[in-house]
Order: sequence, then structure tokens, then C-alpha cells
Amino acid sequence: MVEQNGRSGSNGTNGHGINGAKLADDAERAWQEAQGATSIGPFEYVPPLGFREYWYPALFKKEIGPKKPKFVKIMDEDIVFFRGKAEKVHALFDWCPHRSARLSQGESLFPGTITCEYHGYTFDGEGECVAGLIDDPNTPLVGKMKGKSYPTAEHGGIVYVWMGETEPVPLEEDLPPEILDDRNHWYNRVKVWDANWTEPVNQGIDYHEAYLHRREFNYMGGWTKPWRFKFHNLFSKETPFFRPRVANYGGVEITYEDEKRVCSNPTNVSFGESYHPGVDDTWPKKRWYMFLPKRAGRLSGGGPPTSLMGIPAFAHCVELPSKIRTGSGSEKPATIVKMRWMVPVTFETSRVWTYTIGRRPKSILGRIYKYLWYKLWYEPNSLVRVNEWEDLVTFQKGRLRYDLPQKLSTLDTVVIYFRRHLALRSRDVQRLGGTYGSNHPPTHAVVESDAVESSEPTLAQVGD
Ligand code: FES
Ligand SMILES: [Fe+2]
Repeated sequence: MVEQNGRSGSNGTNGHGINGAKLADDAERAWQEAQGATSIGPFEYVPPLGFREYWYPALFKKEIGPKKPKFVKIMDEDIVFFRGKAEKVHALFDWCPHRSARLSQGESLFPGTITCEYHGYTFDGEGECVAGLIDDPNTPLVGKMKGKSYPTAEHGGIVYVWMGETEPVPLEEDLPPEILDDRNHWYNRVKVWDANWTEPVNQGIDYHEAYLHRREFNYMGGWTKPWRFKFHNLFSKETPFFRPRVANYGGVEITYEDEKRVCSNPTNVSFGESYHPGVDDTWPKKRWYMFLPKRAGRLSGGGPPTSLMGIPAFAHCVELPSKIRTGSGSEKPATIVKMRWMVPVTFETSRVWTYTIGRRPKSILGRIYKYLWYKLWYEPNSLVRVNEWEDLVTFQKGRLRYDLPQKLSTLDTVVIYFRRHLALRSRDVQRLGGTYGSNHPPTHAVVESDAVESSEPTLAQVGD
């Protein structure tokens, strides 16, 4: 028995929000490519360690003490953040330019500086050596020793760092528009996932939910692991237990695209069960007690007409450099958008920043209610049980290979779009001519000529 829901129109773009013919063509191209089970790999154009010419969230400002610096690894680079009583946070390459001890082991003794633990050389926010505390106060080394510095900027208590080689863009260009809207507020959850940053992106746009999150009662925790029980799946609109579930999708429609993002909805969604001739059987096999009515959700192609971003509602969306949104939220106060921003740490680890964004409650009671809703319900159910206990465990280190050939399906239309068309629109390609580590590396990378000033000492200066 198959119930159809939603659009029966063609796949490819429906023309919403399209910014000129080229982008619309890309949507059609991605859909066409998906028909042929394309084998475009994860790193054809996408860089294994992340797009560099972007701002990324690094840490919360409150994590940096007035004296105590904080170490964060991003894109395999060791970075120390400090402020030293000054308001502005600075970021330097963690390895001391003197004899390569960790600056993050040191402390900030003077505003806006950091002093290395080993011999006391002291550096400002530009990475310039400004004093050698046990050296002659007039030491010639001051002004001749410089470490690499990274531009930083702050918004909403979060410190962002520019990882690019070229001039940084204004931070706002890379922030999700929902958090720039004063009517909204958000909660953050930050976790290191043992996975390359691309997989949580691909998984955010690949329409895996109806299978991976299909869990029947026993798998939802049930009687074997009751602490893992997912209450919200009992009544959920998306992957429910008591409602008719999505049996299969007919395809994926790209509903919005612009320079840095692409959004989509499923098409021709079937509920209940579907017959698959290759196995001469139907799926799902068990249907339990489906006494609640079917409800249109983001995965069934329905949803509110306008998202919190102010574009048409969508089920899945990806935004450069590494953000995904599942569910679009809406103008209604009760709804939210879940946005995940992957920050590459090493090839096989990513710091995942989840922003749960919604309208700011107007009253104190409303704020308390929303906080409790998030802490007691949404975070444990959706962000922990679903994303960390089901999503992450399927692709974490050792469970997914990045080096084997892949065949993408029609449900991977947005994955194809991301891997090919969005990657080609990235700032790395625009500014550097390619992406580091991919099959299409930079052709005109910027070489920092004055990062480390070479000053060969004379024999007379060195002594013996
Ligand atoms: S290694 Fe940092 S001061 Fe010597
Ligand atoms: Fe998932």
C-alpha cells in the first residue's frame, strides 16, 4: 500500500531564488549526474582538510582567561588564543618562534601579549616579539622574531578565526544569517567527532533518515538499552513510530541555490510500505501500531513556506564552507533550525558546532520554558541520541573509507552539487585557483613573504 505525498513534478530546480541561469543549470546538471550513478569522490574538488578562505568558529571567548591562553587545533594547525586582559582575542601559531616550545603552555603577563613558558620571550597579537623577559631589555631579537598570526573576530560570545591566506572578508559574510537576525537566539553544542569533516556535511544532505533513523521499538532503546530510548521518535513527524513512516523517496528536488548554498526537498514521498521487485517484497516489514495520522514534515516535502533564513522552506541545505541545516524552521516562535558547522581538526577529526536557532522568546517564562525544552528534550533526544549515537557511529573513524570509489545515487543529488558545483564556487577556487589536497590544488596560492623575517646574525653577534 503506497500513499503519495507532495509534488509530482519534475526533479531538478523549481526556479525559486535562483540567481541567474548558470546556477539553475548547475541544479539540473547535478540531478542529471545523479541519474548515471556518478562516482565523483569526496575530494575531487573539496579539500580533505577544509576550505581555507573562510572564517570558522574556534572557541567561546569565556574559555580564554585574562592570563590563561587556550589551545585549539584547526585544519591540522596548532593555534593559541589569548587576550591578556585586553578585550580583543588574538591567535598565533602555537609553536614559539624562539625554539619551538608551545606558547599555549605560557601565560599572558601583559595586556594583549603572550609569554612563552620556556625562556620568556613575549609576543603581541601580530606575532611580533616585543620583549625577552630574561634577555637584555635592548636585545636585538625584539623586532626580529615573528610568529604566524591569524585574524580573529567575535560574535555572540564566540571567537571566529580566519584560516585563509588572503585578506579576510567581513565576518558577517560567513556567519549564518539566522544568528545575525536580532529576533533570533540560539544554543550551541560543541563536540569533537571522530570523522573527516566532509562526512557530517554529506550526511546532512543525503536523505538517509528514513533508513538509518527508522528504528523500531527495540532499537530505539527499548528493553535492551533503556537509557538510549528515543521518546521523540514515538510521535515524531519525521521518523515516527506511531505514524505511517516514509517508505521511500522518489527523488530530490533542488529548491534554492545561490553563490554559497543549496537547499532541497524530497519529491514523490511514499508512506507506509513500498514494493521492491528485486527482492519481491515490501519494506518496511514491520508496521507496529500506526494509529496516529500521517503528518507532513520536512522529510515528506511539506513544511512552512519561508525558512528562518528568509528563503523557501527546505528539508536539507548545505552552505560553504561546511555548514548544513536539517529542517528549515519557520517564522513561528515554536520552531527551530538545526545548523551544524563542521570545523576540520585533523583528517579524521572535526569539531562539530551545532547551533539550534529559533525566535527569541519574549517573556521570562518563555525563556525558561525554551531553555528547559532544549536541555531536557531537544539536546538529549535529537543532538545526542540521533546525531551522536546513530549518525556519527555509522561513519566514525574505522567505519567508513574515504579512498574507495563511490557510486552516488539520485538521493545524493545535493551531495553531488556540493562536491562539484558548490566547491567550484568556493573562495579557495576563486582566490587561490583550487583547493589544498584535492585533485584540483591551488594554482596561484599566496606565499607569505614577510611572515618570518630572515636576519642572519653575524659571527660577531653570535660569539661562541
Ligand atoms: S622556546 Fe619559547 S621562549 Fe624559548
Ligand atoms: Fe541523521
